[in-house]
Amino acid sequence: MTEMNKTWILRARPVGEVKETDLELVEAPLAPLNEGEVRARTIYLSLDPTNRIWMSDMDAYLPPVGLGDPMRGGGLGLVTESRFDGLEPGDIVNTGLAHWSLYNTLPGAGLAKMPQLPGVPLTAFMGPIGATGMTAYFGLMDIGKPKEGETVVVSAAAGAVGSMVGQIAKIQGCRVVGIAGSDDKCKWLVETAGFDAAINYKKEDVGAMLDKHCPDGIDINFENVGGEIMDAVIARLNDFSRMPLCGLISTYNATDPVPGPYNFANLLMRRTLVKGFIVIDYYPRFAEGIQQMAQWLMERKLKFETDVVRGLENAPSSLSRLFEGKNLGKLVVQVSDEPNKS
Ligand SMILES: NC(=O)c1ccc[n+]([C@@H]2O[C@H](COP(=O)([O-])OP(=O)(O)OC[C@H]3O[C@@H](n4cnc5c(N)ncnc54)[C@H](OP(=O)(O)O)[C@@H]3O)[C@@H](O)[C@H]2O)c1
Repeated sequence: MTEMNKTWILRARPVGEVKETDLELVEAPLAPLNEGEVRARTIYLSLDPTNRIWMSDMDAYLPPVGLGDPMRGGGLGLVTESRFDGLEPGDIVNTGLAHWSLYNTLPGAGLAKMPQLPGVPLTAFMGPIGATGMTAYFGLMDIGKPKEGETVVVSAAAGAVGSMVGQIAKIQGCRVVGIAGSDDKCKWLVETAGFDAAINYKKEDVGAMLDKHCPDGIDINFENVGGEIMDAVIARLNDFSRMPLCGLISTYNATDPVPGPYNFANLLMRRTLVKGFIVIDYYPRFAEGIQQMAQWLMERKLKFETDVVRGLENAPSSLSRLFEGKNLGKLVVQVSDEPNKS
């Protein structure tokens, strides 16, 4: 009997938050593989704030997902069939920019096979040594250029990117202040991830708390959020500060034009370097980033959490966890069991 695939298809452009009816889960038979292709059954599907951007018809860094097309997304897959020399059933690969599908059929060339690292769980390849880890590593190290003794502030600090940024900055000898949306997250940041301080922006006056926790001003603002939080940080930047502009999640569901930043002039007065970046720009240097992050992981210098939702059918409804701040660490959908863990 022909095996069936399941794929989420984008049916409507979301207005504001994504609704489940914006996508449809469609079943279709799997086609036979062509020469050079592999089939990978998704183990973990990455859910990312940028999924929301890809659903909008906007001028972004990648074209939008077309209406009627499979939703774009990546993760880890178990090779179940291969017509590509160099990959065989049982291998685990990073599927790159594939689909929100049970199975992805992919060109074998260029697929990265995941190595086994002692003591490192597979979920690390979705976090510290995956795309979000690379975002943190290159955004901070290449653009932020942290120096010992400097003060680094990171927003969405308990998320996939932010939690890595803060810990890498600590390894570089910086003072690190995180901004996050709950007391539990702030506790995790200080007690587990080793941040010097954390601010609960939903309860506390961010500006006043930044004044308290950053007595020498702010040298690096790793920006994940935008809006009022970004404004409060910009107002406290030091001369020749740096601002890796990684994300603006507070604006992704906006239906009206987004105002600000109100403290824009301070970027001029402080001669701040602001640089937007997209992690895919760093693909050619991923090996370097993965090697360093893997080493820190194996030395137990990085703590990470994975927020796991089970079932491909829950992908669209789970995306809201990112916008409601329900996730601690990297949000993934577990689509099928890890090998040897079933
Ligand atoms: N440039 C790149 O290549 C690149 C790559 C990956 C990610 N990013 C960006 O990096 C940022 C973090 O992404 P991630 O994958 O690591 O997600 P994440 O931080 O794991 O999850 C998103 C977090 O954002 C916070 N948040 C949501 N809405 C907010 C709002 N209105 N105000 C303040 N905080 C809000 C929530 O935490 P709280 O509980 O703290 O509110 C939520 O947990 C996003 O902006 C994303 O677009 C950029």
